[in-house]
Amino acid sequence: MASGPKLIILRALCAAAVLAAAVAGNFNQDVDITWGDGRGKILNGGNLLTLSMDRSSGSGFQSRSQYLYGRFDMQLKLIPGDSAGTVTTFYLSSQGSQHDEIDFEFLGNASGEPYTVHTNVYSQGKGGREQQFRMWFDPTMGFHTYTVVWNPSHIVFYVDGTPIREFRNLAGTVAGVPFPTSQPMRVYASVWDAEEWATQGGRVKTDWSKAPFVASYRGYAAAGCTANDVASCARSNGAWMFQELDAAGKAELKRAQAMYMIYDYCTDKYRFPQGPPPECSAK
Ligand SMILES: *[C@@H]1O[C@H](CO)[C@@H](O)[C@H](O)[C@H]1NC(C)=O
Repeated sequence: MASGPKLIILRALCAAAVLAAAVAGNFNQDVDITWGDGRGKILNGGNLLTLSMDRSSGSGFQSRSQYLYGRFDMQLKLIPGDSAGTVTTFYLSSQGSQHDEIDFEFLGNASGEPYTVHTNVYSQGKGGREQQFRMWFDPTMGFHTYTVVWNPSHIVFYVDGTPIREFRNLAGTVAGVPFPTSQPMRVYASVWDAEEWATQGGRVKTDWSKAPFVASYRGYAAAGCTANDVASCARSNGAWMFQELDAAGKAELKRAQAMYMIYDYCTDKYRFPQGPPPECSAK
């Protein structure tokens, strides 16, 4: 017969182990470099990862674990100088044609011109929910923290702790707006070439004489529910699982959008002449 206190101690130890594993953040343990034939490198004992791209290939990595809800932090230093045509990514995605996805994509630019931070949310295979931002700093000069919080009430994108975007779970209240709740996602990152569209609508091409193009990643922290244990995770886990934007957070979000958002699909009348998608008018 299992004794009560022992079981409780065991449970506590397990919960602690899950959390410790989640926050440790060592690239050697947490990710696999999945493509790029040596162009992705783990350095400094697992604390730094660089992805590079030249004319023949980009590179990328993915998390070993899959998560159903979580808080995901990554520090990135983007490709400096002339990065036109390049796209650097940090995103979450599930598998299959009805997949869910949460994207941070960083569209490079000619020297001295600003990066565009592109975000999107796919639910059940449907995306098209782009919002784009300028940063209030030069993202190539140093590391900055990009965070995704995904819990049952919403998805929030943060830059250096400032919320820039919220996608709320409206699945119970607004028809036709599914929310990612059941498909586990992995974390992915990549550097790839998108000169056909990335920079100034494809007018500015990649200058391959500037290759290799290198982006750096560090400070990866995933505090997530592993896919098969959401209930216990919700009980044992950190604030992110129940996090909502309070009044101050909402005000911060509004201010960040007013100052830094340069594109919002919700106000794109050319794409949506009959009116914006249903989630846009939900308050
Ligand atoms: C690049 O710079 C130009 C000029 O400042 C700007 O219009 C554009 O939005 C920037 N970003 C991209 C990805 O083209």
